[in-house]
Amino acid sequence: MRGASAKCACRKSLTASTAAGAERARAELKGYLRDRVTAREADPRDALLDDLIAQQRSQGGVDRDELAGIALVLLIAGHETTTNMISLGTLALMEHPGELAELRADGALLPGAVDELLRFLSVADGLLRVAVADIPVADRVIRAGDGVVMATSLINRDARAFARPDVLDVRRSAAQHVAFGHGVHQCLGQNLARAELEIALTALHTRVPTLAPNVPTDQVPFKPGGTIQGLLAFPVTW
Ligand code: HEM
Repeated sequence: MRGASAKCACRKSLTASTAAGAERARAELKGYLRDRVTAREADPRDALLDDLIAQQRSQGGVDRDELAGIALVLLIAGHETTTNMISLGTLALMEHPGELAELRADGALLPGAVDELLRFLSVADGLLRVAVADIPVADRVIRAGDGVVMATSLINRDARAFARPDVLDVRRSAAQHVAFGHGVHQCLGQNLARAELEIALTALHTRVPTLAPNVPTDQVPFKPGGTIQGLLAFPVTW
């Protein structure tokens, strides 16, 4: 989002390791976005936030706090996911030079490879739900009202759905992965995300063909946890 300053709390909010820390940082980030909305109401530019504000003005019904909420969803759901997929996907391909070579030799493999990377990396892990009815699963019952955490990273590595699930295989058909969730709340931006990943990975590996990690890949620092998986830094050379 244009105009973000170095004080933006995004990183903090998404890597907090305690519930209280996450809540504090979420409130800080929401406050930051509320301030951005206020600033852009006074000084509009030509970006997504300005479109949202203009739409609210013409239609009414959405206040400043709700606009900040929409901006928060878009920042985390639409930006944090894709940027982390680009860096993690690039790292994964560098760790699998055979797969990267196949992609370079045959660009038609790219759309399938993007879905395979989404499956393999499952950046949006731990989807939250509350059961609205008793649900029998194997020999247990999830009771109505129970909280449920669904680990997409485990579902996407289920050997009953994917042969050799721990192997990154750009030629496999991975389209039935659940990296974008499942059901009515399945990712609204999934086709945009696929396009962004295809464009970014193609541009990176064709325009910078000598791109390589600048540290051993097992020393690349990962985020300690949080809503979306990703890297803290990715030193590269070319
Ligand atoms: C690699 C990129 C992305 C991944 C892995 C991803 C993943 C997900 C997942 C797993 C969900 C379901 C959450 C749930 O069921 O609780 C979701 C929902 C959503 N995503 Fe994405 N997403 C990505 C990119 C995007 C982009 C680019 C946008 C928009 C610009 C976006 C907007 C949304 C929205 C609005 C929802 C909520 C849909 C609803 O609740 O009905 N996502 N995403």
